[in-house]
Formats: sequence, structure tokens, C-alpha cells
Amino acid sequence: MRIVLVGPPGAGKGTQAAYLAKNLSIPHISTGDLFRANISQGTDLGKRARAFMDAGQLVPDEVTIGMAKDRMAQPDAVGGFLLDGFPRNVGQAEALDGMLRDEGVALDAVLDLEVPEDEVVKRIAGRRICRNDSAHVFHVTYNPPKTEGVCDVCGGELYQRDDDSEETVRTRLEVYHTQTEPIIDYYRTQGLVVTISALGKVTEVTDRAMEALEKSEG
Ligand code: AP5
Ligand code: MG
Repeated sequence: MRIVLVGPPGAGKGTQAAYLAKNLSIPHISTGDLFRANISQGTDLGKRARAFMDAGQLVPDEVTIGMAKDRMAQPDAVGGFLLDGFPRNVGQAEALDGMLRDEGVALDAVLDLEVPEDEVVKRIAGRRICRNDSAHVFHVTYNPPKTEGVCDVCGGELYQRDDDSEETVRTRLEVYHTQTEPIIDYYRTQGLVVTISALGKVTEVTDRAMEALEKSEG
């Protein structure tokens, strides 16, 4: 399957993507995680992305689209993928359509995670991620690690993301409403959007998502 996950910052895209990708046997591709890996490795791409991320703004399309395309061209993604955080504006959605058309394939669904703003603020405030891999995500109250400050998956140190400050979160939410939400209408015209509530336990949301994706296939 080829799926796009969309939802505001802190909705639980990364958390759900980990389970959904496993259930569906497709790779989880997060442009945010790819940027963070580039930043921690000190690459030129990471250096270009950092200031935009720290400000809560989108990294320019000419950097982002090429990076996403390279990742989607990897052998593990040939049969399908779960995109988390890409596309993030209509220009990126058009570019993705072009890439898929060139390959003679198409998206199966766009899963839209709906969460009220006060909940995303709570989720982001308590989020802790792993130094080794930002796809390893915890929450101090809602999803605490077994040992405080230590990643359950790999033993790495947990820390708070640089862009999770209150001020930057406000900017990220605004960017989501103005630049990313329009892709939901873009995909609605293609009949691809499946909206679910992302409230409740992580496992409940995963079940809801799996059910919605199965229905969308039928
Ligand atoms: P990115 O890393 O994609 O961040 P985001 O979209 O702001 O989303 P988050 O990762 O903050 O939230 P999430 O929905 O993944 O939630 P999570 O699962 O962690 O992007 C960061 C930046 O990179 C952007 O601002 C931009 O600068 C740049 N960028 C990335 N892609 C780009 C693109 N395509 N174009 C341009 N720039 C781009 O969950 C949040 C917390 O809630 C966690 O603590 C989790 O444990 C907890 N939680 C999850 N589910 C539940 C639940 N059901 N109940 C209770 N708690 C829960
Ligand atoms: Mg994420």
C-alpha cells in the first residue's frame, strides 16, 4: 500500500506510523526524522534544514522533495510506503503525484488524524525522543519509557525536541493550518481521504486506522 499520513504536529503521526508500517509490512518514511538524522550527522542537507525547523517553518521544497524522492526510490519502498510529514503543502503533493505517475503507481489512501488543539499541545509538551533515532517516541505521562530518560527500544538517551518549545509549536500549528491543511482538500478531490479521530489510547487509534484503511480498500 501507498499511504500518506496527515495531521497537526503532535497528532501522533510518528507513533501510529510505527505500528501501521509494521502491520502493513511497508517502510515508515518521515521527512522530519530524515532531517533530524541529517542534522545529527552534520550533513550539508541537515545544515540547510536546521534553521527552518528550529523556527517551525517548512524546509524549502527544493531541499525536501529531492530528499523524499531519494528515500522513496530505495528498494524497500518499491512495493509501498507510509509517508509521515510529506507532502506538507500543495506543491509537494503535486510533485509526489508526478513521481508516482512516472512509476505507474498511485496512492491508496490519505489517513487524516484529527485531534483538538489543546490535546496536541499536551502531547508535544510531554514528548521525549531518542538521541539515536527520532522515530523512537515517548511521552512522560501518556507513554512513559520503562526507565526515565532511557529509550525502551535501543537504550539511547531521551530528550525534548528543539522545536517543541511553546513558541515554536504555535508557529508549527499555524503553518499546518495555512500550508498543510489545503492538501486534505487536494486529496479529497481524488477521493483518497480517510479521516479518523486520534483521541484515545495509542492501540485504539491504531485499530481505528487499520479498520478505516481496510474499508477504504473495499
Ligand atoms: P515533523 O517531525 O514531521 O513534525 P510534526 O509534523 O510537527 O509532527 P510531530 O513529529 O511533532 O508530531 P507527530 O504527529 O509525529 O506526533 P508523535 O507521534 O510524536 O517535522 C518537523 C519539522 O521538520 C517541520 O516543522 C519542518 O520544519 C520540517 N519538515 C518535515 N517534513 C517537511 C516537509 N515535508 N516539508 C518541509 N518541511 C518539513 O506524538 C506526539 C506525542 O504524543 C508523543 O509524546 C507521543 O508519545 C504522544 N502520543 C501519541 N499518540 C498518543 C495517544 N493516542 N494518546 C496520548 N499520547 C499520545
Ligand atoms: Mg513525528
